[in-house]
This record gives sequence, C-alpha cells and structure tokens, in this order.
Amino acid sequence: MNILITGGAGFIGSHLCKKLIKNNNIICLDNLCDFYSPKIKENNISSLLEKDNFTFYKADIRNRDDLHKIFEDNNIDFIIHLAAMAGVRPSIEQPELYYDVNVKGTLNIMECCKKYSVDKVVFASSSSVYGNNKKTPFSESDNVDFPISPYAATKKSCELMIYNYHSLYNISAACLRFFTVYGPRQRPDLAIHKFTNLISQKKSVPLYGDGTTRRDYTYIDDILDGISKAVDFIQNNYTYEIFNLGESNTVSLIEMLTIIEEELGIKAVKSWLPMQAGDVEKTYADITRSREILGYYPTTDFRNGIKKFITWYKEMR
Ligand SMILES: NC(=O)c1ccc[n+]([C@@H]2O[C@H](COP(=O)([O-])OP(=O)(O)OC[C@H]3O[C@@H](n4cnc5c(N)ncnc54)[C@H](O)[C@@H]3O)[C@@H](O)[C@H]2O)c1
Repeated sequence: MNILITGGAGFIGSHLCKKLIKNNNIICLDNLCDFYSPKIKENNISSLLEKDNFTFYKADIRNRDDLHKIFEDNNIDFIIHLAAMAGVRPSIEQPELYYDVNVKGTLNIMECCKKYSVDKVVFASSSSVYGNNKKTPFSESDNVDFPISPYAATKKSCELMIYNYHSLYNISAACLRFFTVYGPRQRPDLAIHKFTNLISQKKSVPLYGDGTTRRDYTYIDDILDGISKAVDFIQNNYTYEIFNLGESNTVSLIEMLTIIEEELGIKAVKSWLPMQAGDVEKTYADITRSREILGYYPTTDFRNGIKKFITWYKEMR
C-alpha cells in the first residue's frame, strides 16, 4: 500500500513511518516547522531517507500546489494525517496559526482526497476535545461541544470536517483521540520531556496548579499499535469512527514528577505556579470501544514507559 503520512518527521509520525515501512511504501510529508528544532525532525527520519520505499517531501499542508504535486506523483492509497500545530498553551497565543494549519491544512488534505480519489483516512485527534468533561472516564459518545483551547477546537472541527467528507464523498475514516503520548523522541515541549531536561540540568521545574491534575499517559508503542489497528480496520470497513487511544489509567502531576525523579536519581527543584488557561483538570480514556472494535490493548504501564523514556534520553544526550 502507498501510505501518505503527514507530519511524518515529528514525534509520533517518525515512529509510525519506521513501523509501517516494513510492509508499505511511505510518502512522508512534513514542513519541518520550528515549533521545536527542525534538526530533531531531520534526525528522526534520517535513517529512513536511504530506503527505496521511503519518499520525503518538505512541504506545507497549507500550500495546495505542493499537495497537488505530491498527489499527482504518487498513487496514494491511504492517508494518515498527523501534521498539525500541537500543544494547548501555545494555541492560546497564536490561534490564527493553529486554525490555519490544523483546520485549513486538513481541508486541503480532504480536498485532495476528493480530487485524487483517496478514500481511506486516519486522523490524529486529541483527548483535549473533551475539555473539562466531568464524567470519567471519557468515552467517544460524550458531548465534546465545549473545547477550552483553540487547539482543542481545531481538532473537534477536523473531526466534523472529516465526517462531512465521509458522508459526501464516501471516504472511510477513523479519528483517533490520542491521550498524552510519551516515549523516545517525545516533543521537548511536553511535560515529561521538559521536566526530565530541567531536572537533569538542576533547573527549577514549573508546576502549574496544586499537583493533583491527572493525565492518562500513553506510551508511544501502544499508540503505534492503535494506529496500525485503525489502519487495518479502515482498510476492511467502509465507515466513519472515533476511537480513544489512551492507557485508561491516570497519573497525577506530582506522581509523574516523582517517578521521573526516581528514575533519574535526581530530586527536582519545584516552582509552584497557578493553573494555566486551557489546561484541563483530568484526562482519562474509556477504551472499551477501541478494545472491542480494534483489539487495542495497551501494554506499557507508566513506570515502565518512563524507564524506557529515560534510557533513550540518557543515550540521546
Ligand atoms: N503527542 C501527543 O501527546 C498528542 C496528543 C494528542 C494528539 N496529538 C496529535 O498527534 C499529531 C502528532 O503529534 P506529535 O506529538 O508527533 O507532534 P509533532 O509536532 O512532533 O509532529 C507534528 C509534525 O507536523 C509537522 N507540521 C506542522 N505544521 C505543518 C504544516 N503546516 N505542514 C506540514 N507539516 C507540518 C511538524 O513539523 C511536525 O513534524 C498531531 O496532530 C497532534 O496534534 C499528539
């Protein structure tokens, strides 16, 4: 199968390229934006560039001409659309950029699906669409009409847009709501990586709130397993589905910090700050549907995942 992976040089995308290249031709599109160092992204895909069944395009999903060229030059069977401006807090500072890349960029991708008859799509949505949902765990049937950040609103908008293309143009699609993904190559802006950096350098760690906010952290290998199961499912079923991909287990901010301290063998210098706008109290995935329909069973618990992350972090440094 010829699979287009947008955002393929990023954290999740580069791991996914490496996994799926075993049985597919991978067309990787990424603009290597400077949300964090483009050098990291170049490194992420450097070992793939020499492979015959890997093609890389440095291109922007906002640029329709570039997209048309990529679709014309490649007989694309399947799209895994991960390219986005990620991150909740920066989306509050730059809402226009987030809407431009995430919503308009996705619209450009869906228009290409229509024009070039690509009828299978998997999209990276986010647990942030649940906002401050009081009912836990969060299930796909919960009301997600109350996003509390531009980032969350863009992800929900894309889910709606993709449904619309499904209903108008018979595109089969799965929107996967990822719950905080971590592991080797994790984005440096995300808390686990950021805290590990700061603790290692003996710098103070900013902790927002009182330490009781909770997150459902998902190890990268489990996310990759969920994505490939969703790809198989969409290959074999004409449908539109939303699936949670989480660990279905929550860890508080202070527990997360303590586990990183223990695994690094260094105590953090803590700096307590007020909760930030856009941050939710808790994320917690109900993965019953993903289990039943996709056969998604995450296997890496938080302590083990952090051990693997820290091993990678030390090697990388
Ligand atoms: N990491 C998480 O915890 C998490 C949680 C929920 C959802 N997601 C979603 O999963 C996807 C991948 O996230 P990630 O953590 O790997 O982030 P990432 O930033 O590492 O990857 C995104 C990639 O998209 C590329 N990109 C950004 N704008 C682009 C544009 N205009 N044109 C082409 N490429 C562009 C970036 O250069 C980057 O390589 C994103 O859609 C993100 O919103 C991630």
